[in-house]
Amino acid sequence: MKRILSGVQPTGNMHLGNYLGALKQWVQMQQDYECLFCIVDLHALTIPSSQPHLLRKHTLDVAALYIAAGLNPETNIIFPQSAIPGHSELMWILSCHTPLGWLNRMTQFKEKSKNNSSHADLGLYSYPVLMAADILLYQATDVPVGDDQKQHIEMARDLAGSFNRFYGKDLFKIPEPRIIGHATRVMSLKDGTKKMSKSDPAEGSRIGLIDSPDVIFEKFKKAKTDAFPFPEAFDSLQDRPEIRNLITIYAALADITPSKVCELFGGQNFAPFKAALAELTIEVLDPLRQKFLALQQNPDYLTKILKKGQEDALEIGEKTLKEVQEAVGLLQLL
Ligand code: TRP
Repeated sequence: MKRILSGVQPTGNMHLGNYLGALKQWVQMQQDYECLFCIVDLHALTIPSSQPHLLRKHTLDVAALYIAAGLNPETNIIFPQSAIPGHSELMWILSCHTPLGWLNRMTQFKEKSKNNSSHADLGLYSYPVLMAADILLYQATDVPVGDDQKQHIEMARDLAGSFNRFYGKDLFKIPEPRIIGHATRVMSLKDGTKKMSKSDPAEGSRIGLIDSPDVIFEKFKKAKTDAFPFPEAFDSLQDRPEIRNLITIYAALADITPSKVCELFGGQNFAPFKAALAELTIEVLDPLRQKFLALQQNPDYLTKILKKGQEDALEIGEKTLKEVQEAVGLLQLL
């Protein structure tokens, strides 16, 4: 059976981009794969916070969102990364096989360290090695991620391959990236050239997964557009990234093509489209929000799910870890 591993960071502010670019796709894939959905709290530590209680809260919140979005907690393995020490342990072993040249090429590190040089620390630098450990520990065959993570998955593949060759043994499966395409890449509502982001200081740049209907209406109303009418065709929108983005969002939510959206609204001005887009978004997000809020009231249930996930993940990961420890020459006392 094919096995998926994926994860998101519990940094709060989950938004429509996370839903369309990750959760919605996972929900569709869960029938066909054995799935591990991780809440990558160790990765979240690369943005150190002086409010540790918030990280714990956000970890439970992500669990609630996973379930509210439609991931079945009975059939999928949902767990916090830190609950399985094997991630960190495997990361160390893998890091002893990771050439610095590979890490130096990672565009995400370059971006993040450029934006905030005081945070250019070892954790951020070795982030892709931990991510490789997340995947390889469970022998995942497929990893669904947004295209910004593609380079990290390729590094995980290279690492698995070179490790296997070095020890002359198929210790790791080589994971396939399942890149969730451009069509579902959601950009900022204020700047169509930037990804919708949890860390954008402008609240109005993103639709939060638990924004109320009023807030959603307001945000779309104020979303950046231009003085031209709604396009009749979806191609040739290179110079209108904001318009392209709004059309893409509508299409992804309605499960129709962007061209179809242009057929529906072409030639009109933007007000009716924005209202329709808000309505559609609310139709999709409101049930999710209601479920999320109910689950949030039940931390004991969420903890139970995560503990069950921990047990299941431990069982799968243990096998890889033992084999790797054995292969590299660590003494087994148990
Ligand atoms: N780095 C990923 C992101 O920011 C999150 C992540 C961590 C992940 N470990 C992973 C995704 C393993 C897939 C598989 O989106």
